[in-house]
Amino acid sequence: MAKFHSNLLIAGLALVSFAAVASTTQEPAEQEPVKKESVALKNMKASKSVYVGAKKCKSCHNKEDRGGIYDKWTEMKHSHALETLKGDESIAIGKELGIEKPWEAAECLKCHETAFSEPKERKHKKFKTDLGVQCESCHGPGSGHVKARLVAAKAEKVEPGTLREIEKGEIFLPDEMLCRSCHNEESPSFEKFEFGERLEKIRHLHPKREKPRVVPPKKKKVKEEVKQ
Ligand code: HEC
Ligand code: HEC
Ligand code: HEC
Ligand code: HEC
Repeated sequence: MAKFHSNLLIAGLALVSFAAVASTTQEPAEQEPVKKESVALKNMKASKSVYVGAKKCKSCHNKEDRGGIYDKWTEMKHSHALETLKGDESIAIGKELGIEKPWEAAECLKCHETAFSEPKERKHKKFKTDLGVQCESCHGPGSGHVKARLVAAKAEKVEPGTLREIEKGEIFLPDEMLCRSCHNEESPSFEKFEFGERLEKIRHLHPKREKPRVVPPKKKKVKEEVKQ
């Protein structure tokens, strides 16, 4: 029952956040119509993989020649999102809402913990919930990716630092609506979410990646018109 309820909440949330986007974004996106739901989130839901936790990603993605991503993540607030719930500010927010222990409350954990609303079967038995907003909150469940990469690493040797292509559906990249499934007005301490700006704060490219693949929609045309 509780799970069903939280799923409903999430569905509601997606709608609320879409409404917020729709009402503040006047000009239509240039290339594609504004999507009301996160395509990334939909793909993640359809994936057969389970959540394995950030520690599993560390062995490969903390290497210097791969961008030292794990260490970068530990410097982001995302990795401390659970500790935040135990702080004074959080306790004060909780008090106002009649929540005694925010760090145990579904109302808070659904955004401050990874895969909180996912059923147990979708989490590996070693998956740790105490690391806040982990890699898989943005990249989806990673068991299939870890397995595939371990097999590939055994099968062939490549130069250290090589950038490999990953098949679609093995692991995912986030989109704006995925971020907004947490960064929305349902959050008691919501601050305006400007996608491009926020992305730059958390971006972690592979050193050999020439161009980012996740970018805010272009508004080029509008600017050119203003110039003329
Ligand atoms: C056994 C090693 C290994 C492990 C463990 C691993 N990865 Fe990867 N991952 C790779 C390799 C290899 C690539 C290809 C890019 C590269 O060469 O660095 C990659 C690429 C990715 C990409 C980019 C996908 C794309 O479309 O280009 C993401 C996102 C990613 N990994 C996330 C994760 C997450 C999240 C975890 C933990 C759940 C994880 N990885 C664990 C080896 C690994
Ligand atoms: C699962 C929920 C969730 C998702 C998904 C999520 N965030 Fe967050 N984000 C949070 C929470 C919770 C915090 C606050 C953490 C804290 O202060 O303890 C946060 C904080 C941040 C911050 C401030 C962090 C800092 O280190 O200064 C940035 C920037 C940010 N998020 C960007 C993003 C972007 C961009 C995306 C999508 C690619 C995203 N977030 C997706 C929950 C989420
Ligand atoms: C809808 C998702 C969501 C829910 C639900 C949520 N949070 Fe958050 N929380 C966030 C995000 C996202 C941030 C980062 C703030 C930002 O950058 O907008 C955050 C930040 C915070 C911060 C740090 C504020 C700061 O200025 O650094 C505290 C404290 C906090 N949340 C407490 C709570 C408590 C307590 C609850 C439950 C009553 C809760 N949150 C529920 C998403 C959520
Ligand atoms: C708040 C969301 C968020 C979190 C948390 C997060 N990532 Fe990412 N990650 C992104 C975004 C956005 C991109 C796409 C960057 C681009 O290409 O523009 C990305 C890209 C990547 C890539 C591909 C880099 C490339 O250029 O090929 C890898 C690998 C990766 N992340 C691994 C991780 C690992 C490992 C963790 C946890 C230790 C993690 N990410 C945590 C949002 C996140």
